[in-house]
Amino acid sequence: MSQTGSNDSRPTWWFSEYTPVGTDLSSPAAVASYDRNQGTDQAADDALLDRLGVREGTCMVDLGCGTGSLIVQAARRKAEAHGVDVSEEMLTHAQGRARRVGVTPHWHRAGFLDYVHRAAPADVVTTKSALHQLPDFWKQQALLNAAAMLRPGGTLYIWDVMFSFDPADTEDHLQRWIDSASRPQGEGFTRADFEAHVREEFSTYTWVLEGMIERTGMEIISRSFPRSTHGEFLCRKRLPTARA
Ligand SMILES: C[S@@+](CC[C@H](N)C(=O)[O-])C[C@H]1O[C@@H](n2cnc3c(N)ncnc32)[C@H](O)[C@@H]1O
Repeated sequence: MSQTGSNDSRPTWWFSEYTPVGTDLSSPAAVASYDRNQGTDQAADDALLDRLGVREGTCMVDLGCGTGSLIVQAARRKAEAHGVDVSEEMLTHAQGRARRVGVTPHWHRAGFLDYVHRAAPADVVTTKSALHQLPDFWKQQALLNAAAMLRPGGTLYIWDVMFSFDPADTEDHLQRWIDSASRPQGEGFTRADFEAHVREEFSTYTWVLEGMIERTGMEIISRSFPRSTHGEFLCRKRLPTARA
């Protein structure tokens, strides 16, 4: 596992991304139960990789890769797969998953803000259920970093808890989400987990994310908000414009 992040050269006001906020996902118990709680699904991972055109030789980076399900599936396709996460426990679990299926993705203990992509420019960058760990100001920096590691024409895919409801209806939408998604302890994420997400993590409005993505020089190819609390953006890094 490489340490490809470094906050050492950053100003002292730089965001500290190695102490994630909200629900604790990095204890050994939380990591062990994460896939069950999250509903990690190999078929869904494969369907996403198909959509993103990940195949042999594709250079793919997954930011906030967690237990590594998506990036391990990418490696099984012989993609050049890079899993990036700030949590050593998550990365250790992800390495075990990779070992069990005989693949060797590149693992990086690094964050959205300080990951330095030293390999060839990426064809695809993904981030699922992780960008909300950063406050909005820092999400913009994270998106700039993601754009910088992509080749022109490369793809950025974002899935996260994000809010597309009318802000005046916030309480209704958030309460409905928490009520329907909460599970008893031991059977999934609990009411307390979702409440902590809303209270302490930094999920934001879809239109805020949209404005940030546009400021990275990427083009939004499609957006989908299947629930008022969840959604995705599929983006492409613009090709350089030809000079006359
Ligand atoms: C909810 S999990 C999502 C994991 C995986 N992407 C998935 O879809 O199952 C969020 C992950 O983001 C990681 N994380 C939190 N802050 C981060 C940061 N600043 N940079 C990179 N990863 C971060 C956490 O350690 C955790 O593994």
